[in-house]
Amino acid sequence: MSDCLPLRAVSSSPIIKAAGNMTPPQITRLDPPAKQGPQEAEERIIIRGGKPLRGETRIFGAKNAVLKMMAAALLAKDVTVLRNVPNLTDVHMMADVLRHLGAVVEISNNEVSIDATNLTEIEAPYELVSQLRASFVVLGPLLARCREAKVSLPGGCAIGERRIDLHEKGLKLLGAEVGIDHGYVYASATKLTGARIYLDRPSNGATENIMMAAALAEGQTIIENAAQDPEIVNLADCINAMGGKITGAGTYQIVIDGVPQEEMHGAVVDTIPDRLEVGTFLYACMAAGGEIIINGANAHHIYAVISKIHEMGAECSIYAPDTIKIKVEGRLKAIDVTTVPYPGFPTDLQAPLMSVLAVAEGTSIMTETMYENRFMQVGELRRMGADIQLKANSAIVKGVPKLMGAEVKSSDLRAAAALIIAGLGADGVTEVTGLSHLDRGYDKLEERLRDLGADVWRR
Ligand code: EPU
Repeated sequence: MSDCLPLRAVSSSPIIKAAGNMTPPQITRLDPPAKQGPQEAEERIIIRGGKPLRGETRIFGAKNAVLKMMAAALLAKDVTVLRNVPNLTDVHMMADVLRHLGAVVEISNNEVSIDATNLTEIEAPYELVSQLRASFVVLGPLLARCREAKVSLPGGCAIGERRIDLHEKGLKLLGAEVGIDHGYVYASATKLTGARIYLDRPSNGATENIMMAAALAEGQTIIENAAQDPEIVNLADCINAMGGKITGAGTYQIVIDGVPQEEMHGAVVDTIPDRLEVGTFLYACMAAGGEIIINGANAHHIYAVISKIHEMGAECSIYAPDTIKIKVEGRLKAIDVTTVPYPGFPTDLQAPLMSVLAVAEGTSIMTETMYENRFMQVGELRRMGADIQLKANSAIVKGVPKLMGAEVKSSDLRAAAALIIAGLGADGVTEVTGLSHLDRGYDKLEERLRDLGADVWRR
């Protein structure tokens, strides 16, 4: 039985037909970080390259963990508080999705509080999901809690096709009926029952949706070939703090013992440090030269990246589990790198690393195995003088002595970071536009680089 009352009336057909003339729930907006609207196209980050970085910086909470934990809050008829939350447009957009579902969400002082006592909707509409594809992860918890969910298909995005077949397969194996109609995924189940689910690839999103649905299923679920990323562990810890029973997160096999809904309660959960932000600062220093200390990191999450930094010839050491130091002198060496699921080299740092390899000594081959179209930074880096050729899913990067500042436009979040990194080491002035992408995933990046001595500002 659903406990999400009063729910919007839905059609008895497996695919909801009602378009809805409901009044949406009241939305309270607090401190959106970025400007939005037509004027945004003119906003830019301006970098005068060639200033080495020096000093210390602190890492903020991981976007890709916090968004999923916000969705997990839907599992309890209670208040869940997430701490160490970065101020990102993605976090604000996820808050809007949860508010639409009836949760009361407040964001302040790097904390998000989600009161999911009363859910009033089971539908996450296109207008919201299309702005934040990660919000598709409300499907699992909504289905678990309400036994019914209708979530807009996120569709592909600039970097790739981004399929959801494994989400679908997992939820079906738990006993849900899942259908796709008119751009929406509709899932319903009178009862969810634990199952053994093998994922053909270790998808983060599928692991998360299945884990959250299985948290309230009857019996035990085992996810085989699960994603092993630290953000999955953070999510499992969050669900456990809320009363769930999950073991094995962080390995290829996750075991979820379902608990009754009444046993789920609110919790206070810390967000892990953003490992992609750590990588971004490391590469920023490699592009600009200098010596920086990164505090508040988790070095265990970033071994693949540090190991490749050593291959390139930079000094990078782990002082304490949460402190990483990097010192960069002279020209770095070319390396080959392939993006693979965690704990391998992350696809999300492929573009930022390419900006460093563009000026390394020798030829690097970068192979992208996670997405079909994640080399969109290449055209912009070429405008800055990089010598990069694309062959199938590899980029052949012939290091040039220096990049030249230019006007460039970012096409996605990590491409934006890559162009800023490129600008830090380039001769002259680089102007990066398309900042809405950057603000989705980096909180005050330019201010923090400026604190390290970079000549960078936003206008
Ligand atoms: N895939 C399938 N079938 C599925 C699910 C995924 O074929 O059912 C494919 C996708 O098409 C993609 C690959 O598997 O090619 C990886 O997809 P995954 O589900 O692991 O990715 P995701 O959960 O959609 C998260 C991060 C991404 C990050 C990937 C891989 C969030 C919000 N997003 O996406 O982060 O690239 O995992 O690590 O957690 C970013 O932060 O810039 C970013 C894009």
